[in-house]
Amino acid sequence: MELIDGKWLSKEIKKEIAAQVDQIIAGGGKQPHLAAVLIGEDPASQVYVRNKVKACDLVGFKSTLIKKDASISEAELLQIVEDLNNDPDIDGFIVQLPLPKHIDEIKVTLAIDPKKDVDGFHPMNVGRMTIGLPAYLPATPFGIMQMLDKYHINVAGKECVVLGRSNIVGTPISLLLSRKANPGNATVILCHSMTQNIKDLCRRADVLVVAMGKPLFVTADMVKEGAVIIDVGMNRIDDPSAPKGTRLVGDVDFDAVADKCSFITPVPGGVGPMTITSLLMNTLKANQKEIYG
Ligand code: GUN
Repeated sequence: MELIDGKWLSKEIKKEIAAQVDQIIAGGGKQPHLAAVLIGEDPASQVYVRNKVKACDLVGFKSTLIKKDASISEAELLQIVEDLNNDPDIDGFIVQLPLPKHIDEIKVTLAIDPKKDVDGFHPMNVGRMTIGLPAYLPATPFGIMQMLDKYHINVAGKECVVLGRSNIVGTPISLLLSRKANPGNATVILCHSMTQNIKDLCRRADVLVVAMGKPLFVTADMVKEGAVIIDVGMNRIDDPSAPKGTRLVGDVDFDAVADKCSFITPVPGGVGPMTITSLLMNTLKANQKEIYG
């Protein structure tokens, strides 16, 4: 079994991004600038956004954090989005999800200029990705594709089973794995809450991508010998033997399945660090006008 080390790979990619930023600035270009909008006090969102801003500093990007109280109105948030769309210094921006219940996430996503949508959530980017046009790819699937590429894991013609059909992970990774590209050309089975015989389907998988948000869901009896496992889960569970009384686990029972796999991503240190790197790559693409010219 070989670990797919997202922590290491993300550091390597960040070094490459930092070198490109130096070149851009040395050539008289504009410093890449990412803005993040954070609404409310959701603890996980606060950590994610803090890490995104920290990563910008590390590679030499400018970053702007716009933090607002959960009581902000939808109209006020839409105005912030409009201002960011029109600010020539901002290359790309994200509105961290989830948003408070009184704000329509779809409405906010649709208001973002696709050219600045470095999350790749706007239907223009989703559609372009779907038909194989250049697009900002959503961070987690983009990170997974880079891991497969860097570890020379060939998925062409293989059976890939994806657990979870979210707009952010399951649905886009299914499209990317199956499209005519490299990595790609896989045969994909997308499983969800209505899927029957999920265990049997998992046992067939040459590549298993798990993004369900169910701690330790995938057990050894669900894994084929030699399978590649990509664990997108990030769950905090009680563990009286851990110093804090809790520990982070994925959707896969790592200890139980590791011996059966050819490759596996750990949690933490697997897919997680790659998502931030993908966001930085998209921001650099926005700065260089790579996608939309
Ligand atoms: N919430 C969870 N993941 C993400 C992400 O990738 N982008 C944004 N904007 N919000 C999220």
